[in-house]
Amino acid sequence: MVKSLAFVSGKGGVGKTCLAVNSAINLALMGLKVAVLDTDFGLSNANIMMGVKSDNTISDFLSGSHSFNDIVYNSHGGVKLIPGGSGTLDTLNLDTEQRWKIIRSLDALENDLDYLIVDTPAGASNSSIEFAAAVDQVVITVVGEPTSFMDAYAFLKALHIEKGVSRFSIIINMAKNETSAFRDFKSFEKIVLKFFPVQLAFAGWMPGSNDVVQSIIARKPFILDKKTKKQVGTCLDVITNNLHKIPKQKKSGIHFFSSETGY
Ligand SMILES: Nc1ncnc2c1ncn2[C@@H]1O[C@H](COP(=O)(O)OP(=O)(O)OP(=O)(O)O)[C@@H](O)[C@H]1O
Ligand SMILES: [Mg+2]
Repeated sequence: MVKSLAFVSGKGGVGKTCLAVNSAINLALMGLKVAVLDTDFGLSNANIMMGVKSDNTISDFLSGSHSFNDIVYNSHGGVKLIPGGSGTLDTLNLDTEQRWKIIRSLDALENDLDYLIVDTPAGASNSSIEFAAAVDQVVITVVGEPTSFMDAYAFLKALHIEKGVSRFSIIINMAKNETSAFRDFKSFEKIVLKFFPVQLAFAGWMPGSNDVVQSIIARKPFILDKKTKKQVGTCLDVITNNLHKIPKQKKSGIHFFSSETGY
């Protein structure tokens, strides 16, 4: 059975794509079969961070000019990438039927995968909400700033109220140390639990690190670079293991790898 995770945040630029890509590769290094679906159709970045040259994207699949197989690329550790493309009006304004088509097209990979990692764009668009509602576990990346807290809160609220999602994993990125990261997690949890009956799990933290910045410039995920500081690798291992431990949940509605046939 494939487990699906979505990396979301509300606020942009907090490290979703970077964490999604490196977690995907780390899971592959653990011997698992993984795919990354980039649903950031405006400014898709996963292909750049993974160093994959992707001529065909979801746009080509939706327009009918390419088959789904044509838009599945192989990357490090055998991780498959389905790239998002960059910003044609058609893909920026996907309707429910098109999103359903994308979700169902992933069924073709069901027997080849243990994990699907969905990277989402910033903001709380219909598209982000729909894709996040279609996975087993939503992973919210937060940085220790009020704007990030508020945007993550707004995203969580929308997902809970509109889609009934009630379990979330939280990553604190660019933190000073584990103590301050956990403090930020507890502050965020306190705000959320005041208003919503949901469960938040601390999935881990990442330090702000120049190795992460350099890995993006080099288009080589930091988890594959031997020069990456041990602490950065260890933090990613903790995150990956925590995400791996979460059991797959039974969900209703439109969902990746479910037998749902309508939209
Ligand atoms: N742990 C980190 N340490 C230092 N810099 C980081 C870290 N994580 C992310 N960054 C920096 O933050 C920038 C944004 O990262 P990334 O593109 O993964 O964020 P994002 O949330 O996916 O952004 P968007 O909302 O635009 O999709 C990167 O260019 C990277 O340099
Ligand atoms: Mg991104």
